[in-house]
Amino acid sequence: MGTKQLVLEMLERHRAQNVSGEKIADALKLSRNMVWRAVNELRQDGYSIEAVTNKGYRLNSESDILSVEGIKPYLSHSELAQNIQIFAELDSTNREAKAQAIENVAHGTVILANEQKNGRGRYERTFYSPRNTGLYMSMILRTNEMGFINPTAITAYAALCVCDAIQAVTALEPSIKWVNDIYLNGKKVCGILTEAISEFESNSIREIIVGIGINIRTEQCDFPEAIRKLAGSIDPDGQLRVSRNRIAAEIINRLLRSDWPTETDLFHQYKQRLFILGKKLNVTKGKESFCATALDIDAQGRLVVVNSNGETVTLSSAEISILE
Ligand code: BTN
Repeated sequence: MGTKQLVLEMLERHRAQNVSGEKIADALKLSRNMVWRAVNELRQDGYSIEAVTNKGYRLNSESDILSVEGIKPYLSHSELAQNIQIFAELDSTNREAKAQAIENVAHGTVILANEQKNGRGRYERTFYSPRNTGLYMSMILRTNEMGFINPTAITAYAALCVCDAIQAVTALEPSIKWVNDIYLNGKKVCGILTEAISEFESNSIREIIVGIGINIRTEQCDFPEAIRKLAGSIDPDGQLRVSRNRIAAEIINRLLRSDWPTETDLFHQYKQRLFILGKKLNVTKGKESFCATALDIDAQGRLVVVNSNGETVTLSSAEISILE
């Protein structure tokens, strides 16, 4: 790791606190002059670092540049940082993750981008991914290293991990619209696209790509008109000073923990976050569309609804929108 990265990691560990040049120099076995030079280089990269006489350097809390050094202090195991890659811009982190998964990269590899030119959503839609105001990440999970491989469970688990991560960082309480849209104050703030790479010969899924897009501080007026009513951000006016690095780390910690919950526990926790039960829905499944009321989530994570003829229908996948 270069001097600049070492100093950045130290400043990120003491984010919003003063650390003396001497302390940094001693800890990293550098001269004070080398620390000073590294700080200047970081400022040129856009970091807001204050230098206060007799107190040292402080990385200001509004500084929110994605970096491995910024994610590392919040990871449950520092080795997880080895598999994190950050790109200034990508077509889509899911596409990059899929390309790398085929190349046999490690389980738990995480691809992040500051901006996506062609972020992918479900049902062939695009995911609006402007520069610096969102978190766009994809994680490669190998099925032989995972707690369960039921696709609905993985998707639901990812949604739960994201909600828990947002809550841990902001104290906000996001909720879930089945299967994996995350809402705050009636607006969708996060979408998840889970894709699988399968092996044709053995008819088995080898890797799962979990793609997560969170609107962190995109302002309402900046969303394209087509999604302006539906979409929202977790910190649109920047008051919460949300660190994208920290949210990324909190998601990684949860998705890569070794003790995944059982499916029963998972869907129990998932149901607590679900805000659609009892609501009237429009359900689209393939070419069919019908109105129904959401009743429950079953043990496999399927949505149980009752249609307008009073019949109970169990859905393993469908697109739903809330009517009231
Ligand atoms: C949806 O709401 O339809 C799912 C949106 C998923 C968007 C994320 S952003 C990171 C990852 N890369 C992509 O191209 N898509 C997912």
